[in-house]
Amino acid sequence: MTRKTPGELRSARWFAPDDLRSFGHRSRLMQMGLGPEDWAGRPVIAIINTWSEAQPCHMHFRERAADIKRGVLQAGGLPMELPALSLSESLVKPTTMLYRNMLAMETEELLRCHPIDGVVLMGGCDKTTPALIMGAISAGLPMIFFPAGPMLRGNFRGQSLGSGSDAWKYWDERRAGNLGAEDWAGLEGGIARSYGHCMTMGTASTMTAIAEAIGLTLPGASSIPAADSAHTRLASACGRRIVEMVWEDLRPARIVTAASVRNAATVAMATGCSTNAVIHLIAMARRAGVALTLDDLDGIGRTTPVIANIRPSGSRYLMEDFYYAGGLRALMNRLGDRLDPTPLTVSGRPIGETIAGAEVYNDDVIRSLDDPVYPEGALAVLKGNLAPDGCVIKPCACDPGLLRNEGRALVFDSYPEMKAAVEDPDLDVEPTDVLVLRNAGPQGGPGMPEWGMLPIPTRLLRRNIRDMIRISDARMSGTSYGACILHVAPEAFIGGPLCLLRTGDIVRVDVPARSIDMLVTEEELARRRAAWTPPEPYYPRGYGQMFARHVSQANEGCDFDFLETRPGADIPEPDI
Ligand code: FES
Ligand code: MG
Repeated sequence: MTRKTPGELRSARWFAPDDLRSFGHRSRLMQMGLGPEDWAGRPVIAIINTWSEAQPCHMHFRERAADIKRGVLQAGGLPMELPALSLSESLVKPTTMLYRNMLAMETEELLRCHPIDGVVLMGGCDKTTPALIMGAISAGLPMIFFPAGPMLRGNFRGQSLGSGSDAWKYWDERRAGNLGAEDWAGLEGGIARSYGHCMTMGTASTMTAIAEAIGLTLPGASSIPAADSAHTRLASACGRRIVEMVWEDLRPARIVTAASVRNAATVAMATGCSTNAVIHLIAMARRAGVALTLDDLDGIGRTTPVIANIRPSGSRYLMEDFYYAGGLRALMNRLGDRLDPTPLTVSGRPIGETIAGAEVYNDDVIRSLDDPVYPEGALAVLKGNLAPDGCVIKPCACDPGLLRNEGRALVFDSYPEMKAAVEDPDLDVEPTDVLVLRNAGPQGGPGMPEWGMLPIPTRLLRRNIRDMIRISDARMSGTSYGACILHVAPEAFIGGPLCLLRTGDIVRVDVPARSIDMLVTEEELARRRAAWTPPEPYYPRGYGQMFARHVSQANEGCDFDFLETRPGADIPEPDI
């Protein structure tokens, strides 16, 4: 393997020449107390840190950044920490999805404009993982993704609590009148007990698992709980390894390939992944020039058993249990020849080598292929006259009786309208009816908020109904569950056929046949189409306006059109 020489480092363009520009760069490093022994001939490693005081999931990132720096220094590099948008899933409104692409742009440009040779990306809370990876793939420098790690299990009166999932569950119990204010306060204090991302198999755990399966983390990284000392050691290991990756010139283009993306999709399905995985994996793959489609994902979902028994798809366990049971390496090893062992990882070794011999220590947490949690169906893609470009459901997290359903639509054009209606004890609604929320897509939401797990109407809750078909062009949290059909494309706001549906129309959903249709005649739909007027754009100015003009639909990954990789359109390095 040929290794880079110090003179070939990208940062050497800033620091090595004997000219006035480089004099300026060097004198400013000296202003920071550094000397030539700190930079000369050493790779400069960016640590992109999504820490902030508005980001509970990344509260430990200041300490971990220091540990990464220790590793970089040990290996002979110069660390340079660069703060980036922290994107807290819990605090950012209207939705972090509005800002995923902003963080992706920030990541790419931070790397491009600074004297950086390689990067450790610090993320984990939902959108931070795809955003950082999308940006870094486009920047093209050697990179390692450092996952935040899941928080400890929640605890309430001796029972374990899962992020999100148990909040929804107990909220329904409270609305049904089964839970008092004191219990509710106890749940509030017990559900998030440590730093780290959500510890269900929500979007965060799904996306960090995907990052590992693509080969962008060190082996085993994504399963380590945030509060485990192994997580600190992982940080320094990332620092040491990234310096070597720079000398090896191991870039993401060699790691993110059609084969590694397919592996990641298989792993996601086997974990019973978040529905959001679909959007992010398509967007990440496209940045690397890999044309992943909804149909590809449906095909993988049909044939991959769910073997991670983690909530919300699984019945009992959380990420902490998954780590003790052997973690993602053990799960991948169980998948055997369903995975391609050859794709390269950031470790410098093929993925097959990094998972070889990884043992499962608890067969109830990580099931065997013969005894799965579900034989298939982490995700399914439906198409029909309601969603010509597709929509997504998580069959393994819904009432099986609803997989084939025909019922009346109850259509809502906005979230507040829907919310008021479901609380109405006299609402005319039956368990086979279909709740519909539209204008909640990438442009209509705006930003495609996580509204897709529409609340079960109070009237049905009191009849002990806990699931029904719900359809929207929104997303739902990866910690959500139920017969929620999401990501309807094209969205209603831009004239997708969902905009033509009316309350009282019959909607037929057939998950085994992968179909979703409104039983309305072509003539009637044409009449409604002629009478439809497009809504006013949501944002009159600013970032939101740019977002609406450039965001793609859910089936295409919701990236901005101008950010997608176009082979041959490489951006030149900055002049120095
Ligand atoms: Fe950060 Fe769930 S809120 S991962
Ligand atoms: Mg989430």
